[in-house]
Amino acid sequence: MPNNWKIMSVAKKEIKKVTTNVLQAMKRAGEKISMLTAYDYTMARIVDDGGIDVILVGDSSSNVMHGHETTLPITLNQMIDHAAAVVRAVNRALVVVDLPFGTYQGNSKEALNSSIKIMKESGAHGVKLEGGREVKESVERILSAGIPVMGHLGLTPQSIYKFGTYTVRAKEEEEASRLLEDAQILEKSGCFAIVLEKIPAALAEKVAKTVQIPVIGIGAGGGVDGQVLVTHDMMGMTNEFSPRFLRRYLNLYTEMTEAVKSYVKDVKSKDFPNSNEQY
Ligand code: KIV
Repeated sequence: MPNNWKIMSVAKKEIKKVTTNVLQAMKRAGEKISMLTAYDYTMARIVDDGGIDVILVGDSSSNVMHGHETTLPITLNQMIDHAAAVVRAVNRALVVVDLPFGTYQGNSKEALNSSIKIMKESGAHGVKLEGGREVKESVERILSAGIPVMGHLGLTPQSIYKFGTYTVRAKEEEEASRLLEDAQILEKSGCFAIVLEKIPAALAEKVAKTVQIPVIGIGAGGGVDGQVLVTHDMMGMTNEFSPRFLRRYLNLYTEMTEAVKSYVKDVKSKDFPNSNEQY
């Protein structure tokens, strides 16, 4: 065998891709699922190479990438652009894309059309939508086209104007038992996993023990099957947002600002470029 063939076969080493079945097997085996957001090629490459199981192209891109106050303004085409860039970077992770506000609520046919457009134009592996019983018909219709669906309960940011605040949800018994029922409805409707956002840890653990599908938490404690964070938050690139549940692994806002300051200084002082940095 010529030497370069060997190199090629090493480079092409089979990567075991994460599928919805793999996630469900992880839950059965008690292995925690890791999930982070990405909205562009470079970040998705970093996150995938870091060994993440699921990449969420979240509608938090509305805040993080576009500077909106809420997740409501982002459009389907913007989400598809983000998702297509992410998919081009990813070798292993499962890529799930948020259905943005106004592309599925109250109309299961529209939910199906929006999901088909996302899958066709981005190459992603599944979609996520917010809500419980009110999206049951949409979940079933999307699934009828063979598209995996992830649910999202608790603090659902697309309903921020109904809630009026981003505080912890389902602290009272009535909302807690409705949430548990909704999780069971989503499971029955065929969701392959559910995100639980900002609810009491004991309730989240109860949900994870009640349903057979993976439950992935953000601000929902350690008793669930996996965790998700917004990458820009955990990397410390955003510095105005500091909820209790957020663990920052880096302080990139400061490090990057310092790097920019150093660059500005070097340009102004004519230190950059030096003789080795030119042709
Ligand atoms: O849009 C998003 O980033 C999300 C996560 C917070 C779960 O939905």
